[in-house]
Amino acid sequence: MSKPLVVTITGAAGQIGYALAFRIAAGELFGKNRSVELRLLDLDMEAIVKRLTGLQYELDDCAFDTLAKTVITTDTDEAFKDSDAVFLVGSRPRTQGMERRDLLGANIAIFKTQGKAINDNAKRDVKVLVVGNPVNTNCYIAIQNAPDLTKENFTAMLRLDHNRAIGLLSHKAGCHPRDIKKMTIWGNHSKSQVPDISNCEFHGKKVSGVVDGDWVSNEFIPRVKARGQEILELRGASSAGSAANAAICHMKNWYFGTPEGDWVTMGVMSDGSYGIPEGYVYGFPVVCRDGKYEIVQGLDIDDGLRTEMMRSFEEIKEEADTAKELLG
Ligand code: NAD
Ligand code: LMR
Repeated sequence: MSKPLVVTITGAAGQIGYALAFRIAAGELFGKNRSVELRLLDLDMEAIVKRLTGLQYELDDCAFDTLAKTVITTDTDEAFKDSDAVFLVGSRPRTQGMERRDLLGANIAIFKTQGKAINDNAKRDVKVLVVGNPVNTNCYIAIQNAPDLTKENFTAMLRLDHNRAIGLLSHKAGCHPRDIKKMTIWGNHSKSQVPDISNCEFHGKKVSGVVDGDWVSNEFIPRVKARGQEILELRGASSAGSAANAAICHMKNWYFGTPEGDWVTMGVMSDGSYGIPEGYVYGFPVVCRDGKYEIVQGLDIDDGLRTEMMRSFEEIKEEADTAKELLG
């Protein structure tokens, strides 16, 4: 096997970190012929370090073929040294009754520090995926604090919304999720997100011709937008297994490419595509080739869709501006 890839997970003592670590260690991201060194970062608190140690021992106990080494740490420089892939998960999760926006102040300071530490320590072609909420703004803050890297080193996770939409739509259309192609979630990973099935195909046909329009507007779209809340209420904890899965799907496509004839949603820095002003992290349909993403061009956007897309953009801009103000 070639040299292990260094994969950093922040917030590794948390619930998403727990689900993510085992799957990556088992070779579900980089494959069975590529080993990984896991760097598991969390806070310097006794109870948390104990949890990290327990995780490290459990990983040892799996004797995975593809796990070369596990390092647990509370030091950002050590965590990001020569990282190839980074999952920025560590942050405060939403609890019941809390809106995502309430999390902003608590979480952006983390992404400022970690953006800088990634800038100073990681490989120059590192791929950083922001999972911790609010993802668009945290990703934006990390980019601002990594001046020696490019904005293309950083993406934010809207893949869970994308996968949720495919799951719900496939139930309605009576097909397998793999049969649904070209789903898009525009905008923010929040209730202002814009699930868009107008390009979705199902066995080569437009899905919009198969499912009822009223169902799409009145049931499907509201449910995708509120799915995080639905899971939170049912589990008494925010989504974890599905979030870890979405993070792996996202990173895998970024590394190895998207399938022919399909695309995925990623939160990436806007470049003016579809009239979304430049310089903000926004959910776009992308294709990935050779380790790089490209925003899909040329899709038709009707007036109703454009209004929703701009509404979500305004929320992202407001969050980013507030974050900049809070950080001074
Ligand atoms: P959790 O509370 O179980 O774990 C979070 C971990 O982060 C904790 O162990 C905590 O100690 C750690 N942490 C906090 N600050 C840190 C710092 N500065 N450095 C390193 N570690 C730090 O939470 P979780 O359920 O694993 O969720 C993590 C984040 O992911 C939350 O922000 C949640 O809202 C978000 N999330 C995003 C999506 C998405 O689709 N993008 C989906 C689900 C959850
Ligand atoms: C989700 O979408 O499940 C996460 O962002 C968690 C949340 O707070 O909704």
